[in-house]
Amino acid sequence: MTGSPRRILILLPLVLVAAAPPPDGKRIAEQGNGRGAAACSSCHGPTYQGNSGLKAPPIAGLSAGYIETRLKHYASPAGHNALMRQVATSLSPAEAQAVAIFLAKQPKGSRP
Ligand code: HEC
Repeated sequence: MTGSPRRILILLPLVLVAAAPPPDGKRIAEQGNGRGAAACSSCHGPTYQGNSGLKAPPIAGLSAGYIETRLKHYASPAGHNALMRQVATSLSPAEAQAVAIFLAKQPKGSRP
C-alpha cells in the first residue's frame, strides 16, 4: 500500500478530465461555443435548411461522419472558406463530433 496516496494525487486530474460532461451539440448549434465558433443557426438558418443569401448550404440531416469530415476540411489548409474556417478551427474535436451528431438528427427539409 505504500505510495498509493501519491498515486491517487497523480490520477485525480485524469479522472476529473474523463468525468467532464461531453459538449452539448444542440447548444453549440444554437448558441455557438463561446470561443470563436458562432452558432451554426446564424448562417445555416434556424432549422439548418441553409441560407442562400450567405451561400450557406443546408446541413440538417447530413450524416454525422460527413459533417465531421467537412469541418476537418475547413480547418485544414485545403479549406478556403473563411466563414467555415473560423468556425471549424474554433471547435474542439469533441465539440465538432457533438454538433455533427446533433445536426444529423435534425429533419431535412426544403430550403426556405
Ligand atoms: C458565419 C457563417 C457560418 C457559420 C456560423 C457556420 N457556417 Fe457552416 N457554412 C457556411 C458557408 C458560407 C458554407 C459554404 C462553404 C463552401 O462554399 O464551401 C458552409 C458550409 C458548411 C458545411 C458543408 C456542407 C456541405 O454540404 O458540404 C458544413 C458541414 C457546415 N457548414 C457546418 C457548420 C456547423 C456544424 C456550424 C456550427 C458549428 C457552422 N457550419 C457554422 C457558413 C457558416
